[in-house]
Amino acid sequence: MTNAQKWVAAFLGFFLILFLLGRITRKEEPTMPSTMGQMGQQTTQTTSDADGQTLTKQLGCISCHGENLQGTQMAPALENISKNWTRDGLINYLRNPSSYSGGARFDEYREKYKSTIMPSYGNRDVKELGRIAEFLLTK
Ligand code: HEC
Repeated sequence: MTNAQKWVAAFLGFFLILFLLGRITRKEEPTMPSTMGQMGQQTTQTTSDADGQTLTKQLGCISCHGENLQGTQMAPALENISKNWTRDGLINYLRNPSSYSGGARFDEYREKYKSTIMPSYGNRDVKELGRIAEFLLTK
């Protein structure tokens, strides 16, 4: 063997070792899919198939707006809201209520319900917010 051939052989051997190491370490990976599975579950947990009315209970809307969304000392009634809102408008509102400046009605709310802040539901699936909006619009 010439010197050059030895170098080539050494290189090939080196890559063979790297390749084998790669195979060995890959064997430890089967833990990955299960953690990925859990992550997948978590994402599906924030998306429920519940209808709009159930969602207002699950997401805690009723804890401020009242058992039947009739309004409490903490938050206004969510009745007849179709006169002020469209489905899309409501979805946008729920995603970012603090940036909504709804005119006189909201000035009044902020005065009347000073100690309560309508939380943002921007982390929820838009489909859920859509179902909530549809439910609210029927009230
Ligand atoms: C922590 C208490 C609280 C929770 C929980 C809450 N809200 Fe509110 N909400 C308020 C307050 C207070 C207002 C009055 C507006 C303001 O102060 O900015 C309001 C206003 C609203 C309005 C506007 C009413 C109008 O007359 O236009 C809608 C719609 C609404 N909330 C829907 C919901 C829905 C749907 C949920 C659940 C997904 C929810 N809220 C959860 C406190 C709350």
